[in-house]
Amino acid sequence: MSEVALEVKALRTVLKDKDRELAVVDGIDFHIGKNEVVALVGESGCGKSMTSLSIMGLLPRIGEVENGEIRFQGRNLLELNRKEMAKIRGHHLAMIFQEPMTSLNPVLTIGKQLTEGIRLHLKTDRKEAEDRANLWLKRVGFPEPERIRREYAHRLSGGMRQRVMLAMAMACEPQLLIADEPTTALDVTIQAQVLDLMRKLQADTDMSMLFITHDLGVVAEMANRVMVMYAGQIVEESDVRTLFKAPLHPYTVGLLQSTPKLKGTSGPLVPIPGTVPPAGRFGEGCRFADRCRMSAPECSAAVPELREVDKGHFVRCIRI
Ligand SMILES: Nc1ncnc2c1ncn2[C@@H]1O[C@H](COP(=O)(O)OP(=O)(O)O)[C@@H](O)[C@H]1O
Ligand SMILES: [Mg+2]
Repeated sequence: MSEVALEVKALRTVLKDKDRELAVVDGIDFHIGKNEVVALVGESGCGKSMTSLSIMGLLPRIGEVENGEIRFQGRNLLELNRKEMAKIRGHHLAMIFQEPMTSLNPVLTIGKQLTEGIRLHLKTDRKEAEDRANLWLKRVGFPEPERIRREYAHRLSGGMRQRVMLAMAMACEPQLLIADEPTTALDVTIQAQVLDLMRKLQADTDMSMLFITHDLGVVAEMANRVMVMYAGQIVEESDVRTLFKAPLHPYTVGLLQSTPKLKGTSGPLVPIPGTVPPAGRFGEGCRFADRCRMSAPECSAAVPELREVDKGHFVRCIRI
């Protein structure tokens, strides 16, 4: 196997709700190779963001990783203290979010925020940090970086903010970038531009990426491998081509049939009936059973195992 950038083993993340613990991520295993882009796909509420925040060490206060290992650069991130984690985050491990305003400071200029991160992590002087900030602002498509550096986030459009976020995430040349629905809030044309840019930057560097989206329509262009998540678990995983050509899990099939604009698909859009059950409302059996066209009585007996049905193709379904 080629070099591994990130390895997640048996990750279980809970949210503490009054006297209950709700498992929002429930036993996830995966790895991302060096230079590889892996997509994590699923409807809203499946646990994608909780997975990424667990890796980043940025869970909300009620959240806690209860079990598992997150191996990155030879260490288990879950064993690091706050200070050690802060050294890695924003440097070797970076993240961009759906809404850039949550990570941009409204009262600091873009330039200040960019150079602060660079100086902190790369230990450069001010001049070097400014040069690096200019370079990355240019690389994300601002021909006049000096001007953007003087701006405040609220004066920029959504697409510009997301490009600034990308420059910030990339400026310290991370080994792994986690992009959590980075273009979901953008207009379609701007979305395409930002995705193109991300793909280009990833290809030009040795960076690995975990690309999170609810939209299978963008996965084919972005990722090498896909993991489909449902109710806190991975239900299918394969390389991108296989997933689009020969999806196996009924949930994946449902997602494909309900996604507009997928190349090579035809016929009417068919939405998946029902909604994702919230954490704590999972039955004993397959969590997708009550929305599944193929479900049978035996599906509610126990949660199916994730089985390798073909080399590198994993499915969690007893009907396959
Ligand atoms: N702050 C929170 N408090 C309570 N429940 C939450 C909170 N954040 C997320 N959840 C719940 O955790 C589950 C997973 O959410 P999330 O990881 O955000 O899903 P996704 O990113 O796939 O849309 C959902 O059931 C969601 O309702
Ligand atoms: Mg999310």
